[in-house]
Amino acid sequence: MPFRWWSLMLMCLLVALAQSGPPLRALAEKRGLQIGAAVEPSLLLQDPEYAAVLAREFNLVVAENVMKWGALQTSRGQFNFGAADLLMDFARKHRMAVRGHTLVWHQQLPRWMYGGFSAAEMETILREHIQTVVGRYRGRIAYWDVANEVIGDDARPRATPFEVLPDYLEKAFRYARAADPGAKLFYNDYGAEGLGPKSDAIYALLKGLKEKGVPLDGVGFQAHVDLNFSPAAVRMAENLERFARLGLEIHITEMDVRLVGPGSRAERLEKQARVYREVLQVCLRQPRCKVFTLWGVSDAFSWRAASEPLVFDADYQPKPAYFALQQTLQQP
Ligand code: XIL
Repeated sequence: MPFRWWSLMLMCLLVALAQSGPPLRALAEKRGLQIGAAVEPSLLLQDPEYAAVLAREFNLVVAENVMKWGALQTSRGQFNFGAADLLMDFARKHRMAVRGHTLVWHQQLPRWMYGGFSAAEMETILREHIQTVVGRYRGRIAYWDVANEVIGDDARPRATPFEVLPDYLEKAFRYARAADPGAKLFYNDYGAEGLGPKSDAIYALLKGLKEKGVPLDGVGFQAHVDLNFSPAAVRMAENLERFARLGLEIHITEMDVRLVGPGSRAERLEKQARVYREVLQVCLRQPRCKVFTLWGVSDAFSWRAASEPLVFDADYQPKPAYFALQQTLQQP
């Protein structure tokens, strides 16, 4: 009797595997693309299915939170690397690249950073943080988001505790390069996928940094979007091309697509699939677009869980968006 149950289970498993087709990472590898997901290391311990789907489908990981300043340096000079180390170990075991996220951001900073420091103090704080964090993982992190969301939605630089040091941005890139010369260094932002005032401001900023000889290797477009997003309408391909012409590598770094709006559930799932497909197509058609990353694995643990923005549902079943990515990766 037990034998029959096992054979049934095995059959179900084989059917499920056959239905979902080749894993995304295998298809992406054939295209010279890395396909990534944002990860919470605690879930690797709590949920075996989370870890299994992550390792099966993706060949790049990025820390959703545990490499942010507030997670790493909770009080000045005291670093907690436990969770980040766990992620590094998982990535090595499953032959996955790692993106470091993030060194300079105006959010998720520890409270002590708002201590009213002088420029000289801030310079020391910034240098020590980058030396310690980037240095610890030297040779093991492929890409660092050195700067995140420096430009606001009004296309002007955001307020941040770092700004007491006038050239903090340039310095952050130089410290990162010195701490790990092998890591590619990125500027990362949202709402700049298409042409418009915000992406113009980012373009001008990055062009200026390149002209100054600042070690900047690439630009990340987060792609936190919704069902109305249309790459054609915002001329995303044209936008990516101008950044490519600056000599930058292009990554899609945090994609998710909120499943909200009119229509039946089936219609919305199809629209969501369309948005994923079109953004991946834009990336595949841009020779410098090398990385396509989703901001999470399953809807259950998404930062926007209520709007089901990812390609696996809360039970790890692939959604139409998953199959859209799979098919697009197989198209010539
Ligand atoms: C988000 C995480 O997903 C959340 O868990 C956290 O509470 C807030 O930050 N842009 C970024 C990411 O660069 O770091 C943000 O991640 C999402 C927006």
